[in-house]
Amino acid sequence: MTAASPRTRYEGLAPLPPDPIFGLKAAYDADDRAEKLDLSAGVYKDDSGRTPVFAAVREAQQRLIEQESTKAYLPILGAAGFREAIAGLLELPDAAAVAQTPSGTAALALAARLTGSCGARRVFLPDPTWANHAPIMERAGLEVVPYRYGPAVPERIGRMLEDLAGATNDDLVLVHLCCHNPTGFDLDDEEWEALAEVVHARGLSVLVDAAYVGFAGTPADDVRPISRLAAAAPELYVATSCSKNFGLYRERVGALGIIIADGEQRARAAETASAIARAVWSNPPWLGGTIVAEVLGDTALRASWSVELTEMRDRLHEHRRTLAERTAAAGVRALEGISDGNGMFHVASITPEQADELRSKHAVYLLRSGRFNIAALSAADIDTLCDALAAVGA
Ligand code: LMR
Repeated sequence: MTAASPRTRYEGLAPLPPDPIFGLKAAYDADDRAEKLDLSAGVYKDDSGRTPVFAAVREAQQRLIEQESTKAYLPILGAAGFREAIAGLLELPDAAAVAQTPSGTAALALAARLTGSCGARRVFLPDPTWANHAPIMERAGLEVVPYRYGPAVPERIGRMLEDLAGATNDDLVLVHLCCHNPTGFDLDDEEWEALAEVVHARGLSVLVDAAYVGFAGTPADDVRPISRLAAAAPELYVATSCSKNFGLYRERVGALGIIIADGEQRARAAETASAIARAVWSNPPWLGGTIVAEVLGDTALRASWSVELTEMRDRLHEHRRTLAERTAAAGVRALEGISDGNGMFHVASITPEQADELRSKHAVYLLRSGRFNIAALSAADIDTLCDALAAVGA
């Protein structure tokens, strides 16, 4: 006799759609066409299509593996050397506690769970924003409230602040530090100042997503708004990732900075973060974070890392200029404004149907929102993309 299939708690659940970014990457991987272009997930590729390991990272890793003497746990909040190195890189003020997290995603989730467990109910997110922001926040129990965000037009900050007018001291406001994902358009100094004034006046808690430090300008340039916000916000959280700026994607290296002026309250926040981390991943992994600490703490490795990071950043800016020129010459309007942006992403002005057609007819994989990864384009791919955009009438 065959046993009846037992009922489970998942019976009747509707199937979930694939992840908009990694689902598309999986579809790309499954595509057997010889010529295809993956512009889905934000991963840097050089002209040969390789995602390089930074020379400094390779060297640091070799040293560390040779010297490794144990596989014992790290502390719950991570390795002291990594936490200090990240605080230095981000130029966090003295009033900062730092938790090492297994990725920037985990840093954001930790911030959401930490604030959510201490009274936060809502998080204001830019619209548009990274496709994973809302799921991270909602799965932590926060309600998402969008605020308008976009290109650097004179009205941008006014619209943003208008939409943030409903935010209170209980809420969290998420801002992208630089290389806004997906638009590439960043706040300028005056806009940061206007935001900081409102944050200060209304006592808003701010969560800065700092996933691309060193991809817009030098790390020192990119982190500058943090100290301004730290002086303005009663609670400032900085979620960072070493996926892009150290190329450590699969090692899952990130951190959450918690900046609170009052030492007692900061200690309570750090303890709560530690209790949450303990209940989710318990202790962070060792290798990636220790590589970062080694690179940042060694003069020669740091100089080498900085040179490679600069080359990546310069190449992205160069790609933006080339894309602007080629599309203008071809009468393609979908990439207007691309040379004003920073970082890996731009949102092409195309319809979801045009994105589908790019994929089905031209094997060009970009998000249905029009977001594509500039950092994945080789020099030759730039022409392929421009031709495909022209062919779908973009
Ligand atoms: C992206 O936005 O494509 C990257 O940040 C990768 C990811 O985790 O989504």
